[in-house]
Amino acid sequence: MPYIVTGGAGFIGGHLVDRLVSKRYDTIVIDDLSAGKYINAKSKFMKLDLRHKAKMGIPKGSGIFHLAANPSVRDSMLNVNEHFDRDVKTTLNVMEMARKADSEFLIFLSTSAVYGDAKKIPTSELESIDPISNYAEFKVLAENIIKYYSRNYGIKSATLRLANIVGRRSDHGVIFDLARKLGSNPNTLELLGDGTQSKSYLYIDDTINAINLVMRKMPNSYSVFNVGTQDSISVNEIAKILEQKIGVSPKHLYKDSGGGRGWNGDVKHMQLDTTRIRKLGWKPKLNSSQAISKAVNDLIGK
Ligand SMILES: NC(=O)c1ccc[n+]([C@@H]2O[C@H](COP(=O)([O-])OP(=O)(O)OC[C@H]3O[C@@H](n4cnc5c(N)ncnc54)[C@H](O)[C@@H]3O)[C@@H](O)[C@H]2O)c1
Repeated sequence: MPYIVTGGAGFIGGHLVDRLVSKRYDTIVIDDLSAGKYINAKSKFMKLDLRHKAKMGIPKGSGIFHLAANPSVRDSMLNVNEHFDRDVKTTLNVMEMARKADSEFLIFLSTSAVYGDAKKIPTSELESIDPISNYAEFKVLAENIIKYYSRNYGIKSATLRLANIVGRRSDHGVIFDLARKLGSNPNTLELLGDGTQSKSYLYIDDTINAINLVMRKMPNSYSVFNVGTQDSISVNEIAKILEQKIGVSPKHLYKDSGGGRGWNGDVKHMQLDTTRIRKLGWKPKLNSSQAISKAVNDLIGK
């Protein structure tokens, strides 16, 4: 069975494609290269903008990993229509491709941000969905499209609600942002928010292991799994790890967007209850600070 990876030229998609190809699976990447740049030479590549009704069909029975989206919470608060198209419209078009091809399965990457400012932390899949950003709201809409297609057209599907993913080849997120700022000024570091925001960070290899396991063990109907570490780390602690590794000690300046948040739509504290996916047999090798440490090494080449 061929595997389709939408967004397969991006950060997580590129690593997923590497894994599928290493197992000698016939892998087809669909990406418009609007953000991603990575092409695994052993995969097939279709340059396609999934916002437009997909003209190209996919092979019968393909398994689909749907990752194409714009993952920036901050940007989603400014460029709303653009995000709706990239996060929701693409999903409807992908589900139509899945329906027409009688897809074997579909795995969708959603986000922990769908819970918003969760009342209960760690937050389980059963807690209420209450997004505070357009990005998260659009992921909820996309989840609902997938659930609907799964139930009405019998497409075996799973949604993974991911924590923050870090590691090799990432070109966005807090580590990348802070390292870039320190590169241009090692004496002063601007931190977005009050620095106490705390979140779960998962290393890319653990993420790919989770996707791989869900592919093999997902139930026949629609299912949802949280994927993250069982701890969290603050922005202040992340800055400290980065500064120690680079060997600088800048003065910190805080740019608070209200309530200690980094930007409009930023969730202040996030940690997921991952009991459900652990019961399938998944466990991350690295906790949040180990994941950050390894990702910083990846970035600065240590
Ligand atoms: N990185 C994280 O921390 C994180 C956390 C939770 C969820 N996710 C989700 O995981 C998925 C992958 O995230 P990522 O960090 O690898 O992002 P990324 O930006 O690196 O990859 C997304 C890819 O989608 C492609 N794309 C965007 N719009 C497209 C379109 N209309 N048609 C075809 N291709 C299109 C981009 O070119 C890019 O290669 C996204 O759905 C994201 O929302 C990521």
